[in-house]
Amino acid sequence: MSRVAIYPGSFDPVTNGHLDIVARGLKLFDKIIITILKNPAKKTLFSLEERIEMLKACLEKNKKIEIAAFDGLLVDYAVKRKAQAILRGMRAVSDFEYEFQLALMNRKLNREIQTVFLMTGMRWIFTSSSIIKEASQFGGNINGMVPQIVNRKLKQKFKLTS
Ligand code: PNS
Repeated sequence: MSRVAIYPGSFDPVTNGHLDIVARGLKLFDKIIITILKNPAKKTLFSLEERIEMLKACLEKNKKIEIAAFDGLLVDYAVKRKAQAILRGMRAVSDFEYEFQLALMNRKLNREIQTVFLMTGMRWIFTSSSIIKEASQFGGNINGMVPQIVNRKLKQKFKLTS
C-alpha cells in the first residue's frame, strides 16, 4: 500500500521551513499532497493561484509531490485522496496549542486519519510566513529564508527594487 500524506496550510507564501518539512516527510511517505485551503474569508497577501504557482515552481519536478487546493473539511479531503495521514510542521512550543487542537478535532472527525508532526530544522525554528511578510514589507533582508521565486514575488508585491 502506498503511504500518502496531505500537507495542508495557507502557504502565504511558502517558506524554506515548509520545504524542509516536505523534504523530511518524503522520507516517511511515498507521496505528499501539498494542499492550500480555499478560504475566501481569509485575507491573504497572495491569491490562491499565486500561492499554487510558487509551490509548483519549487516542487513540481518531484514526482512524489502534488500541489492542490481544497475546501471543506480537511479529513474529508484526505479520505477523498486516499491519504492515511495529515502532515504538519512543528516549530517552537508556541505552535503546540493550536496544532494540538487541530489534530484532536481532526481525530474526532475521523479516527482513521493520523496527524504526523515533524520538527523543522533548527535554522527554521523562527521562520513563519507572517514574520517573513512583515520583514519583507519594510525592506528587511529575507534572503535564505524563502525560495528565490518567493523573494522576488514579495519584492514585486511590496514594490521594492531587487
Ligand atoms: O497554515 P494554516 O493556516 O495554519 O493551516 C490551517 C489549515 C488549512 C490546516 C486548517 O485551517 C484546516 O484544515 N482547515 C480546513 C477545515 C478543517 O478541516 N478544519 C479542522 C477541523 S475544524
